[in-house]
Amino acid sequence: MTQPIKLIIDTDPGIDDAMAIFYAAAAPDIELVGLTSIFGNVTTEQATRNALRLLEWADLPDVRVAEGASKPRALPAFPPSHNVHGDEGFGTLLAETPKGQACDESAAAFLARMAREYKGELVVCPIGPLTNIADALDLDPDFASNVARIVLMGGSLDEGGNITPHAEANIYHDPHAAERVFASGANITMVGLDVTHRILCTAEDFDAIEAASPRLGGIINEMSRFYLHFYTTVGKHDGCSLHDPAAVIACTHPDLFTAQSVSVIVPCDGDTAGATQRAHDGRAAVNVLMSVRSEDVKRQFIDEMSKLS
Ligand code: BDR
Ligand code: CA
Repeated sequence: MTQPIKLIIDTDPGIDDAMAIFYAAAAPDIELVGLTSIFGNVTTEQATRNALRLLEWADLPDVRVAEGASKPRALPAFPPSHNVHGDEGFGTLLAETPKGQACDESAAAFLARMAREYKGELVVCPIGPLTNIADALDLDPDFASNVARIVLMGGSLDEGGNITPHAEANIYHDPHAAERVFASGANITMVGLDVTHRILCTAEDFDAIEAASPRLGGIINEMSRFYLHFYTTVGKHDGCSLHDPAAVIACTHPDLFTAQSVSVIVPCDGDTAGATQRAHDGRAAVNVLMSVRSEDVKRQFIDEMSKLS
């Protein structure tokens, strides 16, 4: 096997974030270098706690967690998405205090330092609002060129939004940060609703993961019930989207997706605030994933999750 990729996940855990982090813990082609926390599904403080808990559950206590920004760049803080992810981020599971704590560095400083240390190697996978990534770009002018790739879950080119008719939640929660990132010239892959709405998991899929992997699969199965229930409340009865796991899988299995090269701009106000639109101002293009081999991504997810303890 080729060398595993070095990966930092920037995350607001969050039920599908938990799935993505456990997937990364299980996947042999990923070396998890760290997690950075961000608000979104929960507050940043809860995100840090949840990130530490996930690593302890996954027996990865040495993977570092760096705490991120507590609010968007220009907008006031949004209330967390309790209706989607539960009061504490993990559905009906209660909050537990982790044994470990976050490192002294800020998320942006950690991201910038790791990108410099692993220049041309580090893959950053943001699966929440992009505030920490924008802060790292501001902190270190070389961050955009030091980082090998930024593979982000967020946005929607042609699919419409999931929080407004135009906007996907991660981009909507800090459009100024997203615009900073899309205009940065970094090597970016956007894993948005155009593909994640096509990758659905059912209660039976999570039962199968628990059957193969009783401890961690059981935790994910428990969380998934709340997430699946939310999907039924918005009229979707055929499963929940694997948003954040899809982004992590796209880091190592780009062959399961097809991409278009598109310049992306993010309006920051008005009806289309937080949308990801085609830009015509000469900025660098990014890779926008537009179609997916859904069954193969789902198989990849279930197979790796089933190897957990
Ligand atoms: C994104 O928003 C959050 O609720 C999920 O964790 C995911 O990152 C989907 O729009
Ligand atoms: Ca997320």
